[in-house]
Amino acid sequence: MRCSADMTPGTAGAAGRGGDQQAATRSDQPAGNGRGRGSSKSRGSSKNSNRAAQKSTSRSPAGRADPARRTAVDVLRGVDERDAYANLLLPALLRERGLTGRDAALATELSYGTLRGQGSYDAILAVCSDRDLAAVDPPLRQVLRLGAHQLLATRVRPHAAVATSVDLARYVAGPRPAGFVNAVLRRVATRDLPGWLDIVAPGRAEDLVGHLSVRYSHPRWIVMALSAALGEAEAGGLAETEAALAADGRRPAVTLCAVPGLASRAELVAAGSQPARWSEFGAYLPDGDPGDVPAVAQGRAGVQDEASQLAALALARAETSGTDRGRWLDMCAGPGGKARLLAGLAAARGAGLLAADVREHRARLVMTALGGAARAGLAAAPGTAGADAGTAGADARTAGPAAGRPGAAAVIAADGTAPAWRPGSFDRVLADVPCSGLGALRRRPEARWRRSPQDIPGLSGLQRELLATAIESARPGGVVAYVTCSPHLAETRDVVGGVLASRGDVEVLDAPGVLAGVPGLCCPAPDGRFAQFWPHRHGTDAIFLALLRRGAHAWPRGGEQR
Ligand SMILES: C[S@@+](CC[C@H](N)C(=O)[O-])C[C@H]1O[C@@H](n2cnc3c(N)ncnc32)[C@H](O)[C@@H]1O
Repeated sequence: MRCSADMTPGTAGAAGRGGDQQAATRSDQPAGNGRGRGSSKSRGSSKNSNRAAQKSTSRSPAGRADPARRTAVDVLRGVDERDAYANLLLPALLRERGLTGRDAALATELSYGTLRGQGSYDAILAVCSDRDLAAVDPPLRQVLRLGAHQLLATRVRPHAAVATSVDLARYVAGPRPAGFVNAVLRRVATRDLPGWLDIVAPGRAEDLVGHLSVRYSHPRWIVMALSAALGEAEAGGLAETEAALAADGRRPAVTLCAVPGLASRAELVAAGSQPARWSEFGAYLPDGDPGDVPAVAQGRAGVQDEASQLAALALARAETSGTDRGRWLDMCAGPGGKARLLAGLAAARGAGLLAADVREHRARLVMTALGGAARAGLAAAPGTAGADAGTAGADARTAGPAAGRPGAAAVIAADGTAPAWRPGSFDRVLADVPCSGLGALRRRPEARWRRSPQDIPGLSGLQRELLATAIESARPGGVVAYVTCSPHLAETRDVVGGVLASRGDVEVLDAPGVLAGVPGLCCPAPDGRFAQFWPHRHGTDAIFLALLRRGAHAWPRGGEQR
């Protein structure tokens, strides 16, 4: 089998919107007319092959493939061939092609569902194909996966699933492979998903991890990483790991977050959503386009996973010691979901927020996210994320007006490992570090196939550096929230443990205690003071949170208190 988060769109209107805020653009350009390697081969270079293609087109027009399925296959191809992010590419294609309503909903369900189920589908297709799946032309492989998804996990009638897949094969690769696609998918159609999984997944008793991997469509290493974070051993049966894997296969709810001071949960509820369980600013949108909610459209609320909201709230609630100076820092802020909430919380207490991101375009997204706050008087410093970043950096370094003015929010493009601000400046610091994203697999379905265990050491090295700087940036008595959207122990417990081992002036606060209303947050012993959210327990992303406080009498390393 081949192996590789604010919302998975559940509705047409919601397609591709939201997305907590951690998506970075790689290649998010629409895939043009969707013809790629296969189609250019089929178009050929000679007049003859052009004529042949036209002839076959007139018999079986490529245009017969319906727009929703063409869009879905183009998303799958963009993800596979150009490293695109589905949550960016899909909305771009829907817009470009004018797909709305049912078509957009179908394209969304087909692309996300296929990416989620890819591991299971590949195992099934391998049995149904007389060709090695790895040797099948990549665009056709996507057509087969899409066909398998429709046959095994949707209510699309089998003959329609097969016929539309044959049309799609023509769309991506011309007429030749149509027979192959037809034959493979007709074999897939002979059983339902459980029936196939009984055949293709290893037995539970022989290879439990392998069984779960195929059954729940996750690479083996992720099954093992989740079970380690849950404190489960294979010998014990991995029951909770199985629940976590199953939850990754479900569409997440669309959760909204009101920006304190600009909107309220009551306003979101009045606009048709339901109050969130734990976040006083959160509300679940049962259906429809978040952009149709006036507070969202006006930038006074956003789409944000509830655990992300709670991580920011926990930082705001954690107790500092000593005298607060009214300066908060979000040092990895792009695209700005938590910064937007923190800015509102800080403003309510007369504090200012400095939001930084190493990448300029991400810093610009933070500016956009803070736009609503700026309009309401939170005064996002203009131009700080662009050409003027150096100036803003100077502001920040001297904890000048933009960084420290009560009620102000400033954004800069700056590397958190080489800070543009003085150490020991901030009462509260958020280090929401770049991570593997294993906690947001519901919303970033391709991440499970794109990531590999080899990514983890590099990420955890950067995470340690950022956490070390975050602690240095806090004033003595100030608090730091270390947050990842991954439960992988090497990115969570081990990072915090490693950094704290090198210094004796940091206290680990009781994060589950700070979020006392949320059940089931405690990490397995002996790490019970860290908080870990889970999709299967909380219905949120698998966000990790450690709250740390610098000793009240500590001084910044190599510096003095200013
Ligand atoms: C997990 S995302 C942050 C999500 C954000 N807090 C939110 O809620 O929208 C991590 C961010 O860290 C940024 N980043 C990566 N390396 C960094 C560094 N050395 N310094 C500052 N930011 C960095 C990435 O560009 C990315 O935008």
